[in-house]
Amino acid sequence: MIIRMAYDARIVIDLDVPGPVINRHLYGHFSEHLGRCIYGGFYVGEDSPLPNEGGIRTDVVEALRRLNIPNLRWPGGCFADEYHWTDGIGPKDQRPVMVNTHWGNVEENNHFGTHEFMALCELLGADPYVNGNVGSGTVKEMSDWVEYLTRDGDSPMVRLRKANGREEPWRVPFWGIGNEAWGCGGNMRAEAYADLARQYATFCRDHGDNKLYRIAAGAADGDLEWTEALMKAISCLGCSRTPKKIFQGLSIHYYTVVGPWDHKGSATEFDDEDYYLTLGKAQFIDRIIRGHSAIMDAYDPDRTIGLVLDEWGTWWDVEPGTNPGFLFQQNTLRDALVAGSHFDIFHDHAERLMMANIAQTVNVLQAMILTDDGPDGALVLTPTYHVFEMNKGHQDAHRLPTHIVEGPQARPAGGYQVDLLSASASSKDGRALISLTNVDASNEASIVLDLRGREIRGATGRLLTSGALQDHNTPDGPDQVSPTQWQAVDDHPRGLQVTLPPHSFATVELDLG
Ligand code: AHR
Repeated sequence: MIIRMAYDARIVIDLDVPGPVINRHLYGHFSEHLGRCIYGGFYVGEDSPLPNEGGIRTDVVEALRRLNIPNLRWPGGCFADEYHWTDGIGPKDQRPVMVNTHWGNVEENNHFGTHEFMALCELLGADPYVNGNVGSGTVKEMSDWVEYLTRDGDSPMVRLRKANGREEPWRVPFWGIGNEAWGCGGNMRAEAYADLARQYATFCRDHGDNKLYRIAAGAADGDLEWTEALMKAISCLGCSRTPKKIFQGLSIHYYTVVGPWDHKGSATEFDDEDYYLTLGKAQFIDRIIRGHSAIMDAYDPDRTIGLVLDEWGTWWDVEPGTNPGFLFQQNTLRDALVAGSHFDIFHDHAERLMMANIAQTVNVLQAMILTDDGPDGALVLTPTYHVFEMNKGHQDAHRLPTHIVEGPQARPAGGYQVDLLSASASSKDGRALISLTNVDASNEASIVLDLRGREIRGATGRLLTSGALQDHNTPDGPDQVSPTQWQAVDDHPRGLQVTLPPHSFATVELDLG
């Protein structure tokens, strides 16, 4: 018999003190030419028996539209710095084949290129975030790509675009200046990259009304020196000048990797200790963002440059029997709780963090959707998908002050202190959304939501949990981990009383008077 213990907690939320806007782009996505993310994931080709529009899978698009994806980053990742965009335009049968040396050494036939990506963004209703090639490309190549995509009127690139069937320019708000320049993007020193970033960004022009938000390739994890070198290159410490508007955003990457790279652990087979270590590593992102923000504050006190976490998520060993270069992993309730905890932290940093992109949307790393290779191409929504869907009400809402004033003690795991309860809240259009993650693997949480400053007209809850942390969704059991109505939401003199099962994520939506 399992004996369940409970802990008590109280969370104060000031409903009448709206804070900064939680940028909807914190719910952004990343899709690389890697494994089965593009080919066999998003793109199955026009001749596929699976329903598709221009080769793009209809059911994948329909599922993702329910997430209100704000932006999609493409084509990499490491792939971005070996991608030459002119290979991916024109008649498909004439596009050159290349080798994707980063990811599995497989042939890339370039059938999914610029026009296909822009069509995908239009189908999803997402803003394109195109990542240009600094590592092996030229300034002219990047400058031409911007012109091809965004210029109106007449010019060599406009004529080329029109010859390939697209009259009107597209709108491209986000532009990446290389990727991981310290590693796969060219193994550069920070100062060397900073100079290149200034140069490349200069020639990424704003054509007509299209205003580019240029994002410099930033640091890995806690490499604050990289961030400082880039901030120095566009600004100066303590002086009154605002940063030069060469780039508007600076990226960082942070993955929840537990263990050494050659043994990151299984996505589905783990014990409680592994689990807490994972959540400790995931929550450490707060320190990472804090560190980079502090450096940026010193050079840019008015916060005119955005911090862009354009790769995040869990990274496990690949599923047995799959290509090690394809990064295909399962996705359990544990991954969902990582996502829930991350979003609370992202909301907390809404003043500086302007974008975040989960790696990656389909079939790679911490995916929203897993698809089968077989002819029926079964599609499964992962537990992480449901967190994105349940949290979408935070997009462009005002963060509300949220304080866990009574709660469980942090639990040590490895070198980390794991917070067992995590929460955040926001309001928009007369409604508030509260997100709660009970990280505790075995104890339920009895929580008073101490709601202040506004009348509550109604409250509805949704709950995402399952019997075991290892539970995940499969074609035979697609709803093993999926949201249900949360009944344990009751009135309380201070607001609401809720009971959150062990290892669960929940949202409460309030109708405000
Ligand atoms: O997301 C997989 C890879 O992780 C990306 O290509 C790279 O930028 C990072 O190292």
